[in-house]
Amino acid sequence: MERRDFLRKSALAALGTAVAGSGLVQALNLIDNNQSKNDNTMKIVVLTGSPRKNGNSAYLAEQFIKGAEEQGHEVFRFDCAFRHVEPCRACNRCGMDGLCIIDDDFLQLRPKLVEADMVVFATPMYYFGISAQMKRVIDRFYAINGQIKGAPKKAAFLMTYADTARKEAEPMLAHYRTLLDYLGWTSVGEVVAPGVWTAGSVRRTDYPGQAYRLGKSL
Ligand SMILES: Cc1cc2nc3c(=O)[nH]c(=O)nc-3n(C[C@H](O)[C@H](O)[C@H](O)COP(=O)(O)O)c2cc1C
Repeated sequence: MERRDFLRKSALAALGTAVAGSGLVQALNLIDNNQSKNDNTMKIVVLTGSPRKNGNSAYLAEQFIKGAEEQGHEVFRFDCAFRHVEPCRACNRCGMDGLCIIDDDFLQLRPKLVEADMVVFATPMYYFGISAQMKRVIDRFYAINGQIKGAPKKAAFLMTYADTARKEAEPMLAHYRTLLDYLGWTSVGEVVAPGVWTAGSVRRTDYPGQAYRLGKSL
């Protein structure tokens, strides 16, 4: 039985048949309203990967966040290029589920990732891959692997690049999808924005709208 049905039935039992019809309806509506509010609200981590503050992928992230916040979701944005996060040293001291020996800004991100219901990756294409700034952060997932692998998280991917060939996005999409398969997370959307070279040129396309609608749809 769905939790909402359970609450509805419990309320009916508790209130009994003595309750006047309109009062009962009001009580059930109250339960429904509270329930749908709690059900829908998510903690979302948005990782951006570009060193261009006013760049294209940052703008897609911004639009996604706008839509998600309008829906009441709580967003924690982490701009990988502007944080001090060192690459994983492969010392294995964490054992893939423990403390990391590196003392840097990943310490702030780590608990947010563990508790997140959703993680969004917004990155430019750099030589057919995600940016090094973002990859550095993803590699540090290693220390919390045991806590995030198999957790019921959602994810989304927002990417921008200059060329117009759609097939050039495939290696990055394959990376994202393979990572999600491994982690057991569910993708709720991909926004692929080709043909944008200069910072901000994505604003003249439909892709920011797609990112906004994705956030709004959650
Ligand atoms: C180091 C570097 C590598 C890039 N590699 C590619 C590439 O392989 N293919 C491509 O189409 N565009 C490439 N670009 C262009 C960016 O992907 C494009 O300008 C993108 O919109 C930048 O997003 P941003 O504004 O969020 O930084 C590259 C740009 C840089 C600086």
